[in-house]
Amino acid sequence: MGKVIKVGVIGAGSIGRVHIDAYKKAKDVEVLAVADTNGAAAEQAARTYGIPKSFSDPKELIREADVEAVSVCVPNAFHAPLAIEALKAGKHVLCEKPPAMNAKEADAMAQAAKKAKKVLMYAFVNRFQAESQALKKYIEAGDLGEIYHCVASATRRRGIPGLGGWFTTKKMSGGGPLIDIGVHILDLSLWLMGFPEPVSVSAACYQKFGHKKDYVYVSMWGTKVPGGTFDVEDYATAMVRFRNGASLSLECSWAANIASGAFNTQLMGDKGGAFLEVGGGLRLFGEHRGNLVDMSPQFAKTDRFLAEVSHFAECVRGEHGPICTAEQGIVIQKVIDAIYKSSESGREVRL
Ligand SMILES: NC(=O)c1ccc[n+]([C@@H]2O[C@H](COP(=O)([O-])OP(=O)(O)OC[C@H]3O[C@@H](n4cnc5c(N)ncnc54)[C@H](O)[C@@H]3O)[C@@H](O)[C@H]2O)c1
Repeated sequence: MGKVIKVGVIGAGSIGRVHIDAYKKAKDVEVLAVADTNGAAAEQAARTYGIPKSFSDPKELIREADVEAVSVCVPNAFHAPLAIEALKAGKHVLCEKPPAMNAKEADAMAQAAKKAKKVLMYAFVNRFQAESQALKKYIEAGDLGEIYHCVASATRRRGIPGLGGWFTTKKMSGGGPLIDIGVHILDLSLWLMGFPEPVSVSAACYQKFGHKKDYVYVSMWGTKVPGGTFDVEDYATAMVRFRNGASLSLECSWAANIASGAFNTQLMGDKGGAFLEVGGGLRLFGEHRGNLVDMSPQFAKTDRFLAEVSHFAECVRGEHGPICTAEQGIVIQKVIDAIYKSSESGREVRL
């Protein structure tokens, strides 16, 4: 039996509850406290999951709860302030995606973790699906050869989350589908490519649906806030170039007139290629004895969130470092910042 890790969860909304559930399933982990500025939500989560303490002030949880680690599961604008507060108080932090609102904040978070000598891990859960882990191994074994281009997509035909709420309010979210779902596929692609150094970004963002009074949709992610704000993009496209000569093209949407949404990344190497779907599915493409061949490895379904929190608990125990590092968080945010900047200026941005 490993050392029992005592954790607190900040934010009892959709993903906070997923974290609690995953911690509950993880070995040698106890959830001792939950906080949410909506005190009733914190109390309800505490009752549902049998968590001893609930707080309506996250800073109180950080100060008072007997925990060594926290999950930060709140709107993006509060990632940096709460993660830094927790790190300063000597807690290890598992912070939800995106790392922060921008690179400056991600940098401050990395500095705080370094100073506190505590773990700061970003919750890029898709790295934990079996297909992603397997593809990383194939790539490291050289099966794709030199990866020179990647096409990454996180698109929905109609899927604006909680239209009018915090997701669609720039000062709370930092942006639209790029920073919300694009960040997942950007992270996964960069990780698979070995985090090459980005050198330039050319991008365009559009706002064509979210502000419409007659936004037509089949189902809404989250709850619509009538009369709320929509001041972010609903589509983003970008081309990123890396120092090693490789490139990446990214496409993200919450709403677009497209046949259907996609959540995948396609890697092109000079020896082989790969098509990886978030939510399951991996195909590899190559040549064998003079023929083109496809390979479809089969996997048992993984509980990505359980794998993620278990990995974090191992980091807290000092068994290894985090798979998603504070430094990688800065690189991701730099690319996102550059995408918004390039779109605003209509020019390529050099990093
Ligand atoms: N990994 C994933 O796949 C995934 C999925 C969904 C959301 N997320 C991320 O998780 C975070 C939360 O998203 P969500 O969907 O759970 O949102 P949500 O709106 O469902 O929940 C957010 C909760 O945080 C609470 N809150 C707001 N400000 C707070 C503060 N300062 N301190 C404490 N609590 C506060 C709210 O009352 C709410 O209960 C976001 O950063 C989002 O990008 C990640």
